[in-house]
Amino acid sequence: MTPRHSRITGTGSHLPPRRLSNADMVTLLAGRGIETSDDWIVERTGIRARHFADDGVSASDLALPAARRALEAAGRRAEDVDLIVVATSTPDMVFPSTACLLQAKLGVHGCPAFDVQAVCSGFVYGLAVADAMIRAGSARCALVIGTEVFSRILDFDDRTTCVLFGDGAGAVVLEASATPGILACELHADGRHAGILCTPGTVSGGRVLGDPVLKMDGQAVFRLAVGVLESAARSVLGKAGRTEADLDWLIPHQANIRIMQGTARKLKLPLDKLVATVDEHGNTSAASVPLALDVAVRDGRVRPGDTVMLEGVGGGFTWGAVLLDF
Ligand code: ACO
Repeated sequence: MTPRHSRITGTGSHLPPRRLSNADMVTLLAGRGIETSDDWIVERTGIRARHFADDGVSASDLALPAARRALEAAGRRAEDVDLIVVATSTPDMVFPSTACLLQAKLGVHGCPAFDVQAVCSGFVYGLAVADAMIRAGSARCALVIGTEVFSRILDFDDRTTCVLFGDGAGAVVLEASATPGILACELHADGRHAGILCTPGTVSGGRVLGDPVLKMDGQAVFRLAVGVLESAARSVLGKAGRTEADLDWLIPHQANIRIMQGTARKLKLPLDKLVATVDEHGNTSAASVPLALDVAVRDGRVRPGDTVMLEGVGGGFTWGAVLLDF
């Protein structure tokens, strides 16, 4: 039997059209009696703008155009897809999964479709799961998507979090291949840190119990993120028998430019090998890595044959890395 690997054959993304600059956030928060500034946001995070979905636009609505673009880039039709994995922390409903709702919007049925919930590491988790299913022979053509409407779970009275996040979706088509593709994956979680980044509200007895908005201890997240992004990168390189010198591109979770540049420096990577979209997208959680990948593919930076490191880190606490030849 031909050895099975998986390979990304197409990428796509979608941002809701409503773009809010930092100046727009200053105005929005001023209306609530809260002060912020473009200088503070840019200096601490590198964020200059984010996109927010209009009321009524759901995670599956954002995922649909991203998925269609990835399918078009791969030269595939929705009918060719035999696995749909959606990473999201802002699903359309408690159930069914956003993946099932997306499947229906794509006009297909029958193939397995499910969500993964690993917050900002969700896309890396989803990609690793799809890779394992393809290598096991359970799928040949997977759609892996990160999609979020994080604006729905932000507390606009909390300036320490609401300026950081945005909405969007990114997608890849991952197909069975005789040659790799995905070289190695590395996934981790440490639930002891669940409380430093969470949205603790829950639905019970027909009511929302607890606070259904994002809470974050930014400094605790920052300290953990820097360490785990470096260790995951080193260990996935080791698994694949590669070194930092083999990397053409580092595409980490887009939360904060200081964390991303710190990771690149620790790996002794020149900063021009770091793909950063956090300035224009903010932190789009599970969507951030596939959004950044699609931007870099479409602007010609990431080219066939390039070695790319994708890294996620986020609530859970979760983290992981996928090393691949594009
Ligand atoms: N505008 C102006 N001032 C602000 C704002 C704001 N939007 N937010 C906070 N401040 C103030 C604070 O009140 C504080 O003022 P004080 O000194 O008078 O008390 C001051 O700025 C410093 O606040 P810190 O919280 O210490 O700022 P810090 O330098 O730690 O930056 C930040 C905060 C940007 C959140 C940083 O900690 C960070 O990026 N953490 C990591 C976040 C992250 O990576 N998340 C990823 C995972 S997301 C996910 O999984 C869903």
